[in-house]
Amino acid sequence: MIEYPDLIKTKYIYVYNKILRKRKRIDCGRKVYKYKTHYRKTIDHHNYRFGKDNTGTKENSGMSIDEHIEIVNKLFPGYILGYKVFRGCIWIDYKIIKGIPASEVFPKTPEFINKIYKFCMNHYKKTAPYGHGDWALDNIMVDGDNFQFIDWDKCDIYTEQEVFQYIYREIFVENIKKGSLYK
Ligand SMILES: Nc1ncnc2c1ncn2[C@@H]1O[C@H](COP(=O)(O)OP(=O)(O)OP(=O)(O)O)[C@@H](O)[C@H]1O
Ligand SMILES: [Mg+2]
Repeated sequence: MIEYPDLIKTKYIYVYNKILRKRKRIDCGRKVYKYKTHYRKTIDHHNYRFGKDNTGTKENSGMSIDEHIEIVNKLFPGYILGYKVFRGCIWIDYKIIKGIPASEVFPKTPEFINKIYKFCMNHYKKTAPYGHGDWALDNIMVDGDNFQFIDWDKCDIYTEQEVFQYIYREIFVENIKKGSLYK
């Protein structure tokens, strides 16, 4: 029987347009589906770039799908179940990571936020010079005391200073702005 997956999220992408020599925005260019056995991300452009420079501002900035998959497979073996580039689109299938996103844990106590911060910094120590790259609470799955990253699209080489700045901004500054931290 055909399985009709749940559409979890859609978002724009940016890709470099060689003719116009500037970046082009594709609305709803990225979609995430939940199947019974896995998650699937689809990207509506065969030349979408991954990594820290994936904003499409320069031709060939960021990394190709093949480079991206190779790095993620090394850093998180078994997470990517398969991928395909077909008719101008990219598909990537991921193992289901147990838990709920840290953004949905309430209340966000100082202890909890401290654990998240330490998890992110320790994770970089293990993967350096590569870093996950998108240290947002949405991308950290919490299962009791076990934390794991999903959404590795921005995985790339980062300096310790860059990692500290991004983590500080995502974990503390953004959540203070949103008023989501428990005082
Ligand atoms: N492997 C996975 N295991 C469990 N949940 C997942 C997995 N992949 C995606 N999800 C769920 O789908 C949501 C969207 O996935 P993901 O973060 O990869 O999409 P995205 O479009 O790149 O999002 P953004 O760029 O806004 O962070 C996640 O926040 C999570 O709830
Ligand atoms: Mg995400």
